Order: sequence, then C-alpha cells, then structure tokens
Amino acid sequence: MDKIRVVGGIPLNGRVEISGAKNAALPAMAASLLTEDTVHLENLPYVRDVLTTRNLLLDMGVEAELKEDGTADLKAAEVRSFQAPYELVKTMRASILVLGPLIGRFRKARVSLPGGCAIGARPINLHLMGLERMGAKCDVVHGYVEASTQGLHGAYIMMDTVTVTGTENLMMAATLAEGQTVLDNAACEPEVSDLADLLRGMGAHIEGDGTRTIRIRGAKKLHGCRHRIIPDRIEAGTFAVAAAITRGDVEVGNCQPRQLTAVLTQLSQTGAEVVMGSNFFRVRGRDSIVSKNVTTYPYPAFPTDMQAQYMALMTQGNGSAVITETIFENRFMHAQEMIRMGADIVIDGRQAVVRGGRPLTGARVLASDLRASASLVLAALVAKGETWIDRVYHLDRGYYHIEEKLAALGANIERVR
Ligand code: EPZ
Repeated sequence: MDKIRVVGGIPLNGRVEISGAKNAALPAMAASLLTEDTVHLENLPYVRDVLTTRNLLLDMGVEAELKEDGTADLKAAEVRSFQAPYELVKTMRASILVLGPLIGRFRKARVSLPGGCAIGARPINLHLMGLERMGAKCDVVHGYVEASTQGLHGAYIMMDTVTVTGTENLMMAATLAEGQTVLDNAACEPEVSDLADLLRGMGAHIEGDGTRTIRIRGAKKLHGCRHRIIPDRIEAGTFAVAAAITRGDVEVGNCQPRQLTAVLTQLSQTGAEVVMGSNFFRVRGRDSIVSKNVTTYPYPAFPTDMQAQYMALMTQGNGSAVITETIFENRFMHAQEMIRMGADIVIDGRQAVVRGGRPLTGARVLASDLRASASLVLAALVAKGETWIDRVYHLDRGYYHIEEKLAALGANIERVR
C-alpha cells in the first residue's frame, strides 16, 4: 500500500494550478442519468472517487468514457440496472447521488444505504423525506433503499439540517417532477450552483441556487449538454494553508478565490499575507502565526472540509485556538495523529483546544479520511525530520497528485509504493 514520506522544514515557493472540484464532479456525473443524450464534462479531477462514479455508471449500462485529461462523455441511453450495489457504495457514500436521477427519470431505484463513516453517522433521512414528499415510496430493505413512484410531483420541502448531497439529490429528482418543487433551508455550496448550471444546460428550470430557497419547475424531458466543472475550493484552501504553515510564498491559480472568502479571511487573521485576484490568490506566510478560534458552518461560512488543515496550522500558533466542529460529530481523528507528532491538542466533544508554539517532530502516522490525510501532510511539512503517512488511499480519493504539486513548490515529499 502506498505511503507518503515527507521531510519537513522547507518553505514552499511558486505557483500551483488547482484541479476540478471532486464535490462538483460527482453530482454532475450522476446527473447524466437524467437524459438519454450525451453529457460532455470537462475539468473533472482524475481522482479515485471520480473513477468509482464512472464504474458505478458503467455498472448500470451507461456509456461512460473518462479520460485523464479530465474530460468525460456520459450517455445513459440504455440503462439496464437501476441499482447502486453495496460493493461500490461502501467505498464511496456519494454514490447516493444516483438515487434522485434514477427515481426522477426511471421511477425506481435500489441504492445500498451508505453506512456511517470515520467522521460521523451521516444519515440520509432528509434525502428520503424529500423524495417521499414528491410522491416516492422509499423503504429500507436488506440494507438497500428501495424507491419507486408512479411519477414524482412538485412539493414544498423544508430540510431541518442543511445537507449538500441532499439538496443535490432532490434538485435532480425535481427536474423531471410534475409541477414546482421548493427546497427550503437548502445548501448554498458552490458545488450545488455548479450542478444547477449543468441541469439548466440540460433544459431544467431552476432558480435560487446559491440561496437557502431553490425553486425547480419540472420538465418533461432533459437533453445533453457540455459543462465545465468548477475548480476545487478545498484543494485551493489546502494549498493556502500549506503556504502559511511553511512560511512560504505560494500563488494558487485556476481557482475562484471568492468561493474561499471565509478561509482566506481566517488565514489573514492568523497573520498570513493574502492577495486575492479574480482567478488566483497569493499567500505569504509570516514567522509568527496568530492563534485564532474558528467554527465550521455550512457555506459561505468556514467549511468543515478545511477544519483538519486549519488545525495543523494552529499547532504552530502563538497561543491557543478553539476549533468548533458543528457539521460532523466525529471529525477530529487527525488530532491524535498530530499529538503523535508532538502537538498539544485537547478534544472535548465537538471542540478542540489547540495550544501552539510546540515544534512538531516527524513520526509514522495513519490517515483516517480524506481531509485528515491532507492535514497530516501539512503537519509533516513543518515537522522536524521524516514523517511517513500510511493509508494514503484516503488522499487519492480527492486530491490529484498532491505530492507532485507540493514537490514542485519545493517540498521534500514523495510517494513510496
Ligand atoms: C458533502 O457531504 C460533501 N461531500 C462533504 O465533503 C462535506 O463535508 C459535506 O457536504 C459538508 O459540507 C460531497 O459533496 C460528495 P451533508 P454530505 O449532507 O452531503 C446531516 C469531503 O471531504 N444530515 O451536507 O454527505 C449529516 O449527518 C467530503 O470532500 C442529516 O442529518 O454532507 C451532517 O451532520 C467529506 N440527514 C450534516 O447533515 C441527511 O439526510 C451535513 O451533511 C443528510 C445530512
């Protein structure tokens, strides 16, 4: 199994180009199930979750051609299976995103119920509640969601918790429902708006994406289109922290800085110098890193997917910082591994108190999930000596060749097979 080896202590310098957004790519690929025509996608990150989604679509009978240059042609003209099997869903819970398109277009779906994961229980009750309000019958049988309908109809759906894939699933289902659907307390993440743009390109009628209330008027049929996936704001944020924590100077290109306002504002409050352009930003780290509290919330606030990376930075702060995680109940697995590197972190439920000012030392550490693995790479970049990161398959789920991108900025990092 691959490992990543890092020798810390080198300030990063140079420019890095950001890949397409994993969390925009997955729903976009699922949306191809809504039409028999070809959906051409560009700027897909060639990462493991995208490959898993391609395999899931192929399994259903979709013609799915995916190239490493990030383009894909997806044609769901002869779908023969309306099922997302356990074997695939257990490796990637985002497989649930085929539920909405399948029930919307084919009026039936059988999707393995995603179990819990390292960061939390992650139920899908809101996905099912919304589909039932649109007239679907959803049962959980033998670990599978069995959904069927005589035809979906529009509905008013209030989600008591903001859910990203829940909003995306219901938005996709509603594009082929009879009448108007209103999604209230909807997620505003840029990935939701990117999906809405794709669906509009396919002929859907959607308004209000990017706000807490999305209105979808159902269409009889959708058609094919070409769509370019937005850049990955979380990958961009990860490189922003890499520049600050190594006291380096990095220009992050091919991204949309305004989608990272909460992260870049927080970074500048920790003392890093941040310059924002239209499709790039630059971060210059300072010797002294100011410890600043942060709380994760749904977009546009500070994202939970940047919490672990920020914790790594706070281990080098000049005081104490309280990190509060409001989205997932168990998203501090990375803290124990940072403590093994010499960090001073105390966890109390959904809060972590990070006392800074202690040098980190290289160690053997274990990645537990995608963003935790990124945070361990960041901690290793400032640790004294050598760090070995195990289970980097987590990293490969959402980052495209991160070690090569970091090495190009001067880091002493390599993948060891
Ligand atoms: C999406 O997950 C992202 N994944 C996650 O990114 C991200 O952490 C998360 O949104 C929050 O921003 C993709 O887009 C593929 P949620 P999702 O439904 O949609 C509760 C990464 O690192 N909830 O918005 O699964 C849930 O338990 C990944 O790239 C319900 O209670 O997250 C959680 O506490 C990790 N019932 C909260 O809502 C439901 O039916 C937010 O979860 C659905 C969710």
